[in-house]
Amino acid sequence: MSAQSEKRILVTGANGLLGQKVVDAFAPHFRVIATGREEKSVRPLTSATYQQLDITDKPAMKECFQSYEPEIVVNCAAYTDVDQAEVEKKVAWQVNAAAVKKMVRVLRRIGTKFVQISTDYIFDGTSGPYDESARPEPINYYGTSKLAAENEVKASGIEHLILRTNVLYGAAESVNSNFVLWVMQSLENNTPIRVVDDQYNNATLANGLAECIAIACVMNVHDVYNYAGTDLINRYEFALKIADYFDYDADLITPCKTEELNQHADRPRKSGLITDKVVKNLHIQLYDTEAGLRQVEKDLQQCEI
Ligand SMILES: NC(=O)c1ccc[n+]([C@@H]2O[C@H](COP(=O)([O-])OP(=O)(O)OC[C@H]3O[C@@H](n4cnc5c(N)ncnc54)[C@H](OP(=O)(O)O)[C@@H]3O)[C@@H](O)[C@H]2O)c1
Repeated sequence: MSAQSEKRILVTGANGLLGQKVVDAFAPHFRVIATGREEKSVRPLTSATYQQLDITDKPAMKECFQSYEPEIVVNCAAYTDVDQAEVEKKVAWQVNAAAVKKMVRVLRRIGTKFVQISTDYIFDGTSGPYDESARPEPINYYGTSKLAAENEVKASGIEHLILRTNVLYGAAESVNSNFVLWVMQSLENNTPIRVVDDQYNNATLANGLAECIAIACVMNVHDVYNYAGTDLINRYEFALKIADYFDYDADLITPCKTEELNQHADRPRKSGLITDKVVKNLHIQLYDTEAGLRQVEKDLQQCEI
């Protein structure tokens, strides 16, 4: 990519895991406006402007977008607690679907391109891994709200890119809720954990997805794309790999079935995403588990989690 251009990229949910990585991926090359619900950024930002923005606050959203007139908005804001989404359906819908509908309406008039981050949870998990043309059939409310967002973006007529991913992980400031960090923290504290061996995914390093978004924007790619890691394995196998890489006691990990966890939300079992299209069209190299965990290790040294 070339030296910093005057192109303005606005990132929503910039304090979240992916949001932070997207800001970092774009900052050397574009003028970045990082926005988040919090009054202040969760970390010091040297090459991006920070602006408080709750995407469900329509007047604030409108004012923010109209004042910056960004060429691209990358929507990393989402209600991501899959179980709690079953309990707080209204809030989940407002953030994941209704706010997206309102944002694309405002942005279409400004002529902004919209990048929406989506998920394999739009599928039922009976026949994964899924390619971009597979038929969505969500089995939980989070997936339903994320599919509604995709449909709003497509129906709005806005120039757009939808990037679907699965089991996003990584290390970033004030972020402690993804699968890899949960396994690491549990094993570090010698806490035994039960991990399902019937949910299959190709887990995704957030840094890699952020790089992919930046490349896709530079190449002006549109449409729907999957982005994921290379290893299609179940969560138990993934947890064992994490234990092995970081030298934790793997005996603390016990396999179990999804039903045994009695979670509020059901989960796709045979899921994962086929990534041939992104590799072919964007010429990018995907991360395998070891390279992903190496990056997590590096990032952990740089932030206080
Ligand atoms: N995590 C996964 O395994 C996974 C898998 C597939 C797809 N995805 C998708 O990837 C994207 C990024 O997820 P992530 O893992 O980076 O999640 P994350 O770390 O939970 O980040 C989401 C961010 O959105 C913010 N947010 C929530 N409601 C908001 C609102 N009303 N206005 C502004 N910001 C709001 C959150 O702020 P608070 O911290 O204040 O709540 C948080 O900073 C999401 O679209 C998600 O659906 C995630």
